[in-house]
Amino acid sequence: MSGALGRLGQSLLFSLDPETAHGLSISALRSGLPRARRPADDPRLAITVAGLSFPNPLGMAAGYDKNGEVPDALLALGFGFAEVGTVTPLPQAGNPKPRIFRLTADRAVINRLGFNNQGHAALARRLATRRQRGIVGVNIGANKDAVDRIADYEAGVRTFAAAASYLTVNISSPNTPGLRALQSREALAELLERVVAARASTDSSTPIFLKIAPDLVDADLDDIAAELMRQGLDGLIVSNTTLSRRGLHDEGSGRESGGLSGRPLFRRSTVMLARMRQRLGPAFPLVGVGGVDSTDTALEKIRAGADLVQLYTGMIYGGPTLPAGIVTGLARFAAREGLRSIREIRDSAVERWASEALD
Ligand SMILES: Cc1cc2nc3c(=O)[nH]c(=O)nc-3n(C[C@H](O)[C@H](O)[C@H](O)COP(=O)(O)O)c2cc1C
Repeated sequence: MSGALGRLGQSLLFSLDPETAHGLSISALRSGLPRARRPADDPRLAITVAGLSFPNPLGMAAGYDKNGEVPDALLALGFGFAEVGTVTPLPQAGNPKPRIFRLTADRAVINRLGFNNQGHAALARRLATRRQRGIVGVNIGANKDAVDRIADYEAGVRTFAAAASYLTVNISSPNTPGLRALQSREALAELLERVVAARASTDSSTPIFLKIAPDLVDADLDDIAAELMRQGLDGLIVSNTTLSRRGLHDEGSGRESGGLSGRPLFRRSTVMLARMRQRLGPAFPLVGVGGVDSTDTALEKIRAGADLVQLYTGMIYGGPTLPAGIVTGLARFAAREGLRSIREIRDSAVERWASEALD
């Protein structure tokens, strides 16, 4: 897709309300538009994480393709992997609209969708008909009115262990009341124990990642790191959206309730990432997400401890050519610096980021 056409598409989308624009972008991808120009795979960007071979470290974050309609079209845009979901056992409508708000001056979004999705069965059917290869993770959650929320995660593991490249246990959405309480030590211990047992009941050894919020204090991070190690989880995604509203310029939409993503989240989520790298050590797989919208921000996540990087809001503002642009930029950086692997820069700024104060 040409740059001019891309810009036209973006301004068209911006004339619509954000949720309509999102639906249109999914339809466009489903129908083969925009024509992707996936950069050729560069061996310097290839990376093995949790036993999976990623062609490059940039992934589409959860929440864009909640129902698994376009994972292969996303990979064709240049992403090295795509995470679909969050999916819950039963379909659910989510919160009343409007529930997505652009904060254009801040290159940010606030959403309070509340896990709107078509449920396990619909996603399982779509994944079963996929013909292409390529890494697709499934992000699992709990229905709002579930009596036993952990049972919903167990069901997600059983349903998707075979079809998913990896599973993400998402307990960090701010839009399902009480969900984030699963991050507290006792609840997390029970949750992880039960999802690991659910996996053992299947034939698969699919890696299981946990996705956490950025609104945690150091004592929470200590607890989470201890439980991840104790239960032998395979990876951690840092982070989901934030409840913080610090430093926003958009005073209108900034007052909406929900989770904030995009540029203003970059600092907080990167500090959390570095602090978790310190706690989990060099061998533990970490995925950095929050405010990535350029090659430089992707590189900084890797320096702060990320093996893999994901983005969502960046693409709302940067359009469908953004992933290819970032991946090309990473390859150029690796070549210019004489790296054999982009991984060589990982952790080079962990101390600096971990010691940044958060207010
Ligand atoms: C509209 C919207 C919907 C989202 N839905 C989900 C979701 O269903 N599950 C999830 O784990 N994260 C969800 N997220 C969070 C993103 O995956 C990501 O963690 C967060 O937005 C930070 O990355 P970003 O700044 O690149 O957007 C959503 C984000 C947005 C903006």
